[in-house]
Amino acid sequence: MGAFVYWQGPYFFQPVAIGSAAAPVPLTPPAVSVIGRQTGTEMAGKSAYRRYYLTRKRILSGMRPTGKLHLGNLHGALSNWIALQNHGDYDCFYFVADWHALTSDYATTDDIRANTIDMMIDWLSAGLDPVKSTLFIQSNIREHAELFLLLSMIIPLAWLERNPTYKEMKEELAGKDLSTFGFLGYPVLQAADIIMYKAYGVPVGVDQLPHVELTREIARRFNFLYGEIFPIPEPLLTEVPKLLGIDGRKMSKSYDNSIFMSDRGDVLKKKVAAMFTDPQRQRKRDPGRPELCNVFTFHQLYSTGETVAEIPPACRSAAIGCIECKRRLAEAIADGMRPIHERREHYLRHPEEVRAIIEDGNVRAARIAEATLFEVREAMKICHEL
Ligand code: TRP
Ligand code: SF4
Repeated sequence: MGAFVYWQGPYFFQPVAIGSAAAPVPLTPPAVSVIGRQTGTEMAGKSAYRRYYLTRKRILSGMRPTGKLHLGNLHGALSNWIALQNHGDYDCFYFVADWHALTSDYATTDDIRANTIDMMIDWLSAGLDPVKSTLFIQSNIREHAELFLLLSMIIPLAWLERNPTYKEMKEELAGKDLSTFGFLGYPVLQAADIIMYKAYGVPVGVDQLPHVELTREIARRFNFLYGEIFPIPEPLLTEVPKLLGIDGRKMSKSYDNSIFMSDRGDVLKKKVAAMFTDPQRQRKRDPGRPELCNVFTFHQLYSTGETVAEIPPACRSAAIGCIECKRRLAEAIADGMRPIHERREHYLRHPEEVRAIIEDGNVRAARIAEATLFEVREAMKICHEL
C-alpha cells in the first residue's frame, strides 16, 4: 500500500511524525465476493464478516465539497468525527458528498473536483486517519446512485415537500434556481448514503436533523415493504462550540468572516487582529467582558491554561489591551495549528498519497455498498442475476 501516513490519537494538536514507515497493518475487511452469489444475509453469517463488520457500530457522515474548511468546521463536525474514530467502539465511514454539491450548484461545477480533494486534505490534516476510518468519495461508489433510484420509487413526494430544510434552503438561496428534481431529492440521496452502510449513528449538526429523521422513515418504509434489511440510524448530535466569525456573526463561508484551517502567517494575524471584541470596550482603559468576547472563546481552545486564567482579570481591569490579547491569540492559533499545517503541506506535496488513501477508502466502501445492493435487489426482486 505504499508509505501510508498515519497517526494515532488523541490526535488533536499533537505533533505527529509524517511519513512514518512503521504503519501497523491496517484492519482490512475480509474479501466479500458479491459475484459469488452470496446474499448479504448469508455473508453476515460468516464469522470473518461478523467479526469485522458486526462487532463495531458503524458511523457514517459526509460533507459537501463547498471549499476550504474553517475553524468552526474543525472544532464542530471534524473534531467530533475524529473523536468517534479514536473512540475504538466505532467503525467510521466519512465521505465527500460531491453529488450533493450538484443539487444546488449544478451550473458551476468547475471547482467540485479540486474542492473534493482539498476537503480530503483538510480531513487528513485535521487527524482523520485513513487506517482507522474509511474515507471515500460519494461519486466513486455508483451504488449510491442505484440505491437513490430505488428509494425514489417508494418515497411519497409529500415527505420531501414538507422537509423544513428544503423550504429553508430554497428561501436562503433565492438567487439560485432550485426547482430541480435533484434538489428536491437531496434527502433521498442522503438516505441512500446512510442506509447503504447500515449505519448505526450519523454525526451531524442540528441543521441536518430533519434529513436523518427522514432517513429513518425511509428505512422503515423500505423494511415494511421488502423485509428487514436496514437498521434505523440514530442522529448523533454534534455539539458546536460557539465560535463566531471575525465579524461576530456565525462563522460561515458565505459571510466571508471565516478563519480557514489553512490560514497562517500574516493572513491569520490580520484576521485575528480584525476580530470583533466586547463592543463595550472602545478604548484600552475601558474594562472588558471576556465572557462576551469571541477572542476569549478562541483563547479557551488554543491558549495554555495559564493564559486562559490570566486574561479575564486583566481584561476586566483593563490591564491588557485587545491588541495585545489578539496578538497572543494569533500566536496560540499558529502554534496549535502547526501540526495540521505541516500535514497539509505534506499532502499537497504528495498528491499520490492522497489518491492512494481515497482509492483504498473507495475499495473498502464499495465492498459494503455492493453487498447492500445485492441484498436490496434480492429483496425487491430485481432481476440482477440470470
Ligand atoms: N447534507 C449533508 C450536509 O450538507 C451532507 C451529507 C450528505 C451527509 N450525505 C450525508 C451527512 C449522509 C450525513 C450523512 O452537511
Ligand atoms: Fe476580548 Fe481580549 Fe479585548 Fe478582553 S482583552 S475584550 S478578552 S480581546
